[in-house]
Amino acid sequence: MQNKVVWITGASSGIGEALAYKFSKEKYNVIISSRNEIALQKVKEQCVFSENIKILPLDLEDLDSLNNKANEAWELFGKIDILINNGGISQRSLALETNLETEQRIMRIDFWGTVVLSKSILPKMIANNGGQIVTVTSLVGKFGTKFRSSYSAAKHALHGYFDSLRSEVWDKNISVTIVCPGFINTNVSINALVGNGKNQGTMDDAQVKGMHVDVFAEKMYNAISSKKEEVYIGGKEIYGVYIKRFFPRLFSKMMRKQKVT
Ligand SMILES: NC(=O)c1ccc[n+]([C@@H]2O[C@H](COP(=O)([O-])OP(=O)(O)OC[C@H]3O[C@@H](n4cnc5c(N)ncnc54)[C@H](OP(=O)(O)O)[C@@H]3O)[C@@H](O)[C@H]2O)c1
Repeated sequence: MQNKVVWITGASSGIGEALAYKFSKEKYNVIISSRNEIALQKVKEQCVFSENIKILPLDLEDLDSLNNKANEAWELFGKIDILINNGGISQRSLALETNLETEQRIMRIDFWGTVVLSKSILPKMIANNGGQIVTVTSLVGKFGTKFRSSYSAAKHALHGYFDSLRSEVWDKNISVTIVCPGFINTNVSINALVGNGKNQGTMDDAQVKGMHVDVFAEKMYNAISSKKEEVYIGGKEIYGVYIKRFFPRLFSKMMRKQKVT
């Protein structure tokens, strides 16, 4: 085994689950977290070196609990080299049809949960002479689309936060990687919230046709290993980042007509 420890949130399904398998295959010690302990147990059992997987259930929405969770996570292997902030929830509703409680919930899980967890682990990493904080945002962290207003806001906020943090901690041997997925074939649309706070419960076409999650995990692993600062992983939708950057008016017109599910 490598003497390296990675902590992955949102590891009970989708991207986090695929990352757990990949890091285990690469002989890392892996801590897997999310709310669903039974699902985490199944993920652990399917890892190549399951004896080197530890389960730490947590709810990113319960901000007051996260500092203790970070302490517990650190104690599991005596250190953490890489924190992967992957846990999160998406949105499938128009801004005008989304109640404030739902908007705040998305911000609390996707933005504040990620920030509080990262700030809880950072001082320990610094005292341990370094580490890597990886945050999964989204292409909608780079541009907005229909039905994603609060989700896009939370993911944009993560970019601002972690870009700032990177410039503050680089000299403490902390690297910050932001990963922006496009359409990846996971349950993200099934779990996404609609305007009244309920789960959408259905799979979007774009997700069905999206990148296979194992292919995504492979690419993300490479980006983490080479300590990329920011990476876009997906299909042709990633060109949206460049169209928005160089032709913002054109991009805006395209987005008006875009059929987003
Ligand atoms: N799939 C895509 O196309 C896509 C595109 C762009 C960005 N992303 C981002 O990728 C990340 C992973 O999503 P996914 O596609 O793998 O979707 P997913 O299959 O729905 O997985 C989401 C994960 O987040 C966890 N989670 C949700 N709420 C949580 C909470 N309150 N506390 C702790 N964990 C929580 C879930 O676990 P529990 O239910 O067990 O808590 C689950 O493990 C998310 O940040 C998402 O925004 C995905």
